[in-house]
Amino acid sequence: MSSVKFWSGEQVPMEMHKVRMVQRVNLKPIEERKAAIEEAGFNTFLLRNRDVFLDMLTDSGVNAMSENQYAAMMQADDSYAGSETYYRLEAALEDMFAMPYFLPTHQGRACEHIIAKTLVNPGQTVLMNYHFTTTKAHISICGGQIEELVSAAGREITSTLPFKGNFDLDRLNESIARLGAENVSFVRIEAGTNLIGGQPVSMANMRAVSEICRAAGIPVVYDASLLADNLYFIATREEEYIGKNLKDITREIAAMMDVLYFSARKLGAARGGGILVKNEDVFLKMRELIPLYEGFLTYGGMSVREMEALTVGLYETLDLDVISQTPLFVAALCDELQRRGVPVVTPPGGLGCHVDAGSFCSHISQEQYPAGALAAAAFIVSGVRGMERGTLSEQRKADGSETFAEMELLRLAVPKRVYTLSQMKYVADRLAWLHENRHLIGGLQFVEEPSVLRFFFGRLAPIGDWPTKLAEAFRRDFGDSL
Ligand code: F0G
Repeated sequence: MSSVKFWSGEQVPMEMHKVRMVQRVNLKPIEERKAAIEEAGFNTFLLRNRDVFLDMLTDSGVNAMSENQYAAMMQADDSYAGSETYYRLEAALEDMFAMPYFLPTHQGRACEHIIAKTLVNPGQTVLMNYHFTTTKAHISICGGQIEELVSAAGREITSTLPFKGNFDLDRLNESIARLGAENVSFVRIEAGTNLIGGQPVSMANMRAVSEICRAAGIPVVYDASLLADNLYFIATREEEYIGKNLKDITREIAAMMDVLYFSARKLGAARGGGILVKNEDVFLKMRELIPLYEGFLTYGGMSVREMEALTVGLYETLDLDVISQTPLFVAALCDELQRRGVPVVTPPGGLGCHVDAGSFCSHISQEQYPAGALAAAAFIVSGVRGMERGTLSEQRKADGSETFAEMELLRLAVPKRVYTLSQMKYVADRLAWLHENRHLIGGLQFVEEPSVLRFFFGRLAPIGDWPTKLAEAFRRDFGDSL
């Protein structure tokens, strides 16, 4: 695993790769960063990359690829139908997951679209540990609703429990009994639970969920987009699996599921997606939708080059040195922030470091989007682009009132093998300064609010001129330094 013990006794994350191609990044002066976020409607999704220093918006589609992935891209077999590239990908998936049927898609939410259209009837409920934004939207559009059954610890910011993404099994049983199995479209297990801080689910919990569902005749759908991180935590935190072969663990997970889907922008460090299915009838129903929405069955909207990169990237997911880099960097960043008094989600999960914006900006009410305000403020003082994961990422209720998020988080994603430890130290330093000066951060209000997935392109404005005061305070402390 890529962490080494120093002579001092300190355990230090170690990059088990060398960088052979680089991309220049810009660190612009604070005045330009402030102008850029104003132009972006205080929404980090609308920033232009040329104004960003460290892009920690997401790890989606921006992970570093290996030389073997690039080499594989050169042998891609371009053809509309029957490409050899497709068959290589199908064989890799079969080898890794041992599920009989595969459907390619252009990305993760496309899988969710196809799955919801096939399995969700109006009025039905989908039970899950926790929702993801696009998942919930697709289920809602099909007339379904969701219930979230994550363990109580998963809803708390700080904990020492290793698997905060686990289901509360009593609540799962209770929901099935109350709703009736026929009214439950499926139970969805999300690996590395994204919106609560990249928190993993244990093998024991997945096994118990799948047994309950099997007994009730309810299909189990696994969102494996964050499988790499979850595998790392199983192999390092779950006693029975410590040191166990990652491919064996992966196959054991797949054996518990009826349907497994993934965003290949995350899993396999490429761009695309896929659905694996056990039941032939379900597969045939889903298959009809692929040419309609995605593309022909042997590419599903993916470029052949990405499919080749994915085939290699999937195998690299089975290497602990490769998959440990993000969780170890997340832990290093979280530890440093905590040491300097900045509140974060604990234990550190996968995906990224999650700053507790609710506590950081406790002076800002949820109506004024504290996590969105913190994301904008962090960009102004550092050029680091994070993502709001709080009330702004929720959808308004039918009566127009806000759905207040259970947690107000600023997510600082750590794309796989992209950034260095000194860059992580910079992030921690600027956030520590911002925390010290947090009283200067004010709220936000919508200027333009889309009705669906509003966080992607909604535009906001600060309540009061707090960005100017923040920039002035930064200049006082940092002088001419960027
Ligand atoms: N499921 C999970 C758990 C995800 O994290 C994502 C994407 C999706 C599904 C949808 O996949 O983007 O390929 O359509 N998460 C990205 C993120 C967007 O930034 O966390 P997609």
